[in-house]
Amino acid sequence: MSTRLEVAVIGAGAIGRTHVETLARMQGMHLAALVDPTPAARAYADSLSVPCLPDAQSLIAAGLAQAAIVATPNETHLPIAAALLRAGLPVLLEKPVAESLDSALQLIAVARETGVPLLVGHHRRHNPIIQAARAAVANGEIGDLVMATVTCSLAKPDSYFQAEWRRSPGAGGPLLINLVHEIDLLRHIFGEIAFVQAVASNARRGFAVEDTAAVCLGFAAGGLATLCISDAATGPWAWDLSAGENPARFPAHPVQAHLYAGTKAGLSLPDLTLWQPPGTPDWTVPLAPRRIEIAPGDPYAAQLSHFADLIRAGGRPLVSARDATANLIVLDAIRSAAATGQRVAIDLSPLGPET
Ligand SMILES: NC(=O)c1ccc[n+]([C@@H]2O[C@H](COP(=O)([O-])OP(=O)(O)OC[C@H]3O[C@@H](n4cnc5c(N)ncnc54)[C@H](O)[C@@H]3O)[C@@H](O)[C@H]2O)c1
Repeated sequence: MSTRLEVAVIGAGAIGRTHVETLARMQGMHLAALVDPTPAARAYADSLSVPCLPDAQSLIAAGLAQAAIVATPNETHLPIAAALLRAGLPVLLEKPVAESLDSALQLIAVARETGVPLLVGHHRRHNPIIQAARAAVANGEIGDLVMATVTCSLAKPDSYFQAEWRRSPGAGGPLLINLVHEIDLLRHIFGEIAFVQAVASNARRGFAVEDTAAVCLGFAAGGLATLCISDAATGPWAWDLSAGENPARFPAHPVQAHLYAGTKAGLSLPDLTLWQPPGTPDWTVPLAPRRIEIAPGDPYAAQLSHFADLIRAGGRPLVSARDATANLIVLDAIRSAAATGQRVAIDLSPLGPET
């Protein structure tokens, strides 16, 4: 067998093409095929001189790939990923892990039963900015978290919503498509979330699914956070529009999207600036900003590298199906809080024990 890992990309849409372009830059990985039934995908495959197959079953039958990246609409994640895992093909599955908690729990069961590697595509965890922020918080640089603010203003063009799934409750909407990233980062950096409150609105776009939401949450370890998200709001204050992760798709504005204020200091992202007092914190004394220096890196490439390592050497995925499903439990609680006006406690017991 060649030492080059032959990888198929299933779903040649917006993020599928990012994976194709990233694969082209990866040593030891190679695009084996595209899987997508549309004429646009076939034309794209022709332009890349790779085979194009209509569905995951055809890919499995053709035996063309040793692993697959699944970048299809959310409600297809379970059937496609489960078929691949059962056929012994390791999967990098785009986030959210599934469109619903029930589907995600089924996928956890398949991953456990097959033991085939499954990595969920919360790519931001692979970003050196996030790794440095997580290390700074773990090292006590900001003390205990008191409050965090996350903003996510994403003025998506009307053409984005031509894909029907993006307008549908249970499949699309900025909570499931975008806020899931922010929930994942907050859990990754500050630990599990204990409760949420929320309001949501569809007043700007008028789709059945929300376009805007404001969320309050409390962490199990203490500390509160607010998150404001909209796919109809114009402004640069969003990770996607400030972190420079995907320059082919998004501009990178010099603003912050995450603000963390602790008992000892503050930390803003993605500029990775620590705001420290010269002595005991005192609001009348100027804080000194200090950039945490890092070597910038492409999180999509780092994610693929990790995927290749999991396939070749085994080990624990940085984002397991179980971990990613905890994000869905928080999202369900946010939806429920928005619908009822009630504070909702987070119950992670459906996940079962970590194995
Ligand atoms: N990690 C990230 O930064 C990121 C960014 C965008 C989207 N996503 C996630 O990636 C997934 C895809 O999102 P998108 O915006 O690229 O969607 P998209 O609509 O642009 O593309 C989806 C593609 O999948 C194809 N497809 C649909 N059903 C299929 C099937 N059964 N088999 C094969 N192909 C099929 C469609 O023809 C389309 O080309 C979603 O889960 C989304 O949440 C992740």
